[in-house]
Amino acid sequence: MTNNIRPLVAGNWKMNGLKAELAIASAVAQGYEPGLRRSVDLAICPPATLLFAVSAALIGSRIATGGQDCSAHESGAYTGEVSAAMLADSGAQFVIVGHSERRTLHGERDADVNAKAEAAQAAQLVPIVCVGETRAEREAGKALAVVKKQLRGSIPQGSTGATLVVAYEPVWAIGTGLTPTVADVADMHAGIRTELARLLGKSVAPGVRVLYGGSVKPSNAAELMGVANVDGALVGGASLKAEDFLGIARACGA
Ligand code: PGA
Repeated sequence: MTNNIRPLVAGNWKMNGLKAELAIASAVAQGYEPGLRRSVDLAICPPATLLFAVSAALIGSRIATGGQDCSAHESGAYTGEVSAAMLADSGAQFVIVGHSERRTLHGERDADVNAKAEAAQAAQLVPIVCVGETRAEREAGKALAVVKKQLRGSIPQGSTGATLVVAYEPVWAIGTGLTPTVADVADMHAGIRTELARLLGKSVAPGVRVLYGGSVKPSNAAELMGVANVDGALVGGASLKAEDFLGIARACGA
């Protein structure tokens, strides 16, 4: 945790979710009781096809929604793409950009991620900019250098704590059940905070939420969320079960 930062737990449903899964969002809303509301923000990022319906189901719950990616372009002849304004129009407040699955499977580079994050901010969305090293990069001792380079290339200039969220997700920890040691998470998040201070200024950096992501579940959340400079979680698999997602939120708000 970081002093004076309200943590955020965001669920990334990835390419999972048909209409039947709206029940997950409703169950999360039911479990987001006043005690939890006081201490932690929640967001659900369903597939774009469900964004409007999930946002509608969450009206009045104070749970935000988000997209999982957006186009860097405003509008026009980009068949199949979804713009940031469309996500906002569907009820989203956030959008994940630069997830490692986008970087790896779709060849997105830092410059692409930067353009998407800027498009998000222009549409009044808060981008959740993902960064993280591969297993080989960690073993080569390059994890921090890789993440700093991604931050430099991806984060829009002039971002503030109100307009930017960063998510550190080691690629090798995503969907694998593996997590870094608490010491490694502490080192990385401190390094990210230092780099944010360099990029955005010493007064801005302490207000930017830096989430940890990669195999977060109720059983390891308290330990991970207790690390200095960890201001919440980006949750994949466990966000598809309302009880698990709420369990992580409780660990974060504790
Ligand atoms: P995971 O995914 O929680 O299933 O590891 C995290 C993510 O990809 O954001």
